[in-house]
Amino acid sequence: MGGQNGQRRPLIAGNWKMNGLRADGLALAEALAAWAKGRQAWGAEMLVCPPATLLGAVGRVLEGCQVSIGGQDCHAAAQGAHTGDISAAMLADCGADWVILGHSERRQDHGESDGLVRAKAVAALGAGLKAIVCIGETEAERDSGRTLAVLSRQLSGSVPVGEDGLSGDSLVVAYEPVWAIGTGRTPSREQILEAHSHIRGELTGLVGDVAGAVRLLYGGSVKPENAAEILALEDVDGALVGGASLKADGFCAIYDAAV
Ligand code: PGA
Repeated sequence: MGGQNGQRRPLIAGNWKMNGLRADGLALAEALAAWAKGRQAWGAEMLVCPPATLLGAVGRVLEGCQVSIGGQDCHAAAQGAHTGDISAAMLADCGADWVILGHSERRQDHGESDGLVRAKAVAALGAGLKAIVCIGETEAERDSGRTLAVLSRQLSGSVPVGEDGLSGDSLVVAYEPVWAIGTGRTPSREQILEAHSHIRGELTGLVGDVAGAVRLLYGGSVKPENAAEILALEDVDGALVGGASLKADGFCAIYDAAV
């Protein structure tokens, strides 16, 4: 991995989204476990975020492997009358170490605001989970020159500044341009560099020195074919991978591009 990223260990995270019944999830987890068991060096971290229904079963398959599991969302409250929701502690209880928060599909489909994402991040840290906070501009926002302003607003609103448990290890920020997710389109190198360097700068303003240890992931149409180029960019400390994380060989190839 290039990018002079020093101490920051790359993170390759797979977001399975709402894909996979039990047989599919187990087959994918078993293929990842077989790959992981044959591997000696772990220069980067690997994480998979299956649907909540598969978290326990996938976690059991991956037990003892160097592959962590995470949720795709959690509720901001610790427990209570929230039908259909899942708390951060419930994810941790299933074996999750991580949770993805504020993904653009949740911001769009469920109207999640920056404030709600922040409250979820506070809950996640409180339950001992590490949080991947997602931000990213829509195509209309980019076309109208508002990308950096949108990223600043989302960051300052969503990152749980000043909260217990916030550290360079427990917070990850994923830059995911909405127009690049699931479309096969990726930003240019310059666009990724500009966004990541802006995010690092803004984070420094928000959390000071901790910002230097926070990993910044790029997400949006990452595939084995483009992973090496993207992961070599300065301030890109890993990837959040959707579609290409549903095939073990492709996901493992992306991991290999990070180390
Ligand atoms: P994609 O999704 O890799 O399928 O574009 C990325 C994401 O939404 O995290």
